[in-house]
Amino acid sequence: MATPNCLILWVLLIADSVWTQSVRQAFEAQDPEDWDTQDDFYCPRECFCPPSFPTALYCENRGLTKIPPIPSRIWYLYLENNLIESIPEKPFENATQLRWINLNKNKITNYGIEKGALSQLKKLLFLFLEDNELEEVPSPLPRSLEQLQLARNKVSRIPQGTFSNLENLTLLDLQHNKLLDNAFQRDTFKGLKNLMQLNMAKNALRNMPPRLPANTMQLFLDNNSIEGIPENYFNVIPKVAFLRLNHNKLSDAGLPSRGFDVSSILDLQLSHNQLTNFPRINANLQHLHLDHNKIKSK
Ligand SMILES: *[C@@H]1O[C@H](CO)[C@@H](O)[C@H](O)[C@H]1NC(C)=O
Ligand SMILES: *[C@@H]1O[C@H](CO)[C@@H](O)[C@H](O)[C@H]1NC(C)=O
Ligand SMILES: *[C@@H]1O[C@H](CO)[C@@H](O)[C@H](O)[C@H]1NC(C)=O
Repeated sequence: MATPNCLILWVLLIADSVWTQSVRQAFEAQDPEDWDTQDDFYCPRECFCPPSFPTALYCENRGLTKIPPIPSRIWYLYLENNLIESIPEKPFENATQLRWINLNKNKITNYGIEKGALSQLKKLLFLFLEDNELEEVPSPLPRSLEQLQLARNKVSRIPQGTFSNLENLTLLDLQHNKLLDNAFQRDTFKGLKNLMQLNMAKNALRNMPPRLPANTMQLFLDNNSIEGIPENYFNVIPKVAFLRLNHNKLSDAGLPSRGFDVSSILDLQLSHNQLTNFPRINANLQHLHLDHNKIKSK
């Protein structure tokens, strides 16, 4: 009586594997890039892989000192608030689908970032590296990048060509770093064709950053030591709408002859400066902050 049972079992096994295979083929046919044949649901021990959100990997707040191997299915990677010092190439070798990496609040230095580690991520859109120990903007970066968040590091240098290929970058946040005027070359921002928001608040700039990208709409430069704005500065950024220069050293003599009579500007923040006269503005302006200057009311 053993033979028929074995046969039935064997038939069931065959049927099962055929079924599994056809389901897998269906998935692969649907969206071949999202499914890897080897490690569909592999989850690094250190992390949490929510079954209902298979493209996300949660490894935050765990005291990790190393980046675990990232499975190929992952789009969203959460590694914030750990003790990670380096970004090697190896853990990312299969992570070709990554769109989003959050590495805020770690201990990453430039020496710890291996050359190809970031640039090999050909689909990366968002890179969060706030509150780390970076002294320069990491380079090379993936050309696909749309947002680069580097607030609260020690960045004082921008390597030549760092931004030259980042045609899709819309947001660059460098607030609360150590940028001096000499961080910029003539062509530092060249190539950022789609940049809309540039935040360099809380650095050590004495001059306006040179040659900004033409699509810049939001320019945040609060808490620097900027004394003046060059003549015709706004001509190269004809879309600038939000301009924040609170907590600087602007005086009347430092303003261009047109002042802020620029039709694109909607929101102008000039609090905590050294202006003594009400500056020229445009009729389109919707919000103006001028408190804590030396303007005498008549
Ligand atoms: C990448 O995938 C290969 C093949 O599946 C595997 O042997 C290797 O361990 C993976 N690498 C990482 C870092 O997960
Ligand atoms: C930039 O974005 C466009 C539109 O989403 C996309 O087609 C293009 O491939 C992107 N460029 C890079 C270098 O990823
Ligand atoms: C600028 O400095 C002032 C005073 O220290 C602070 O209140 C404000 O939040 C700072 N703003 C930015 C954008 O750093």
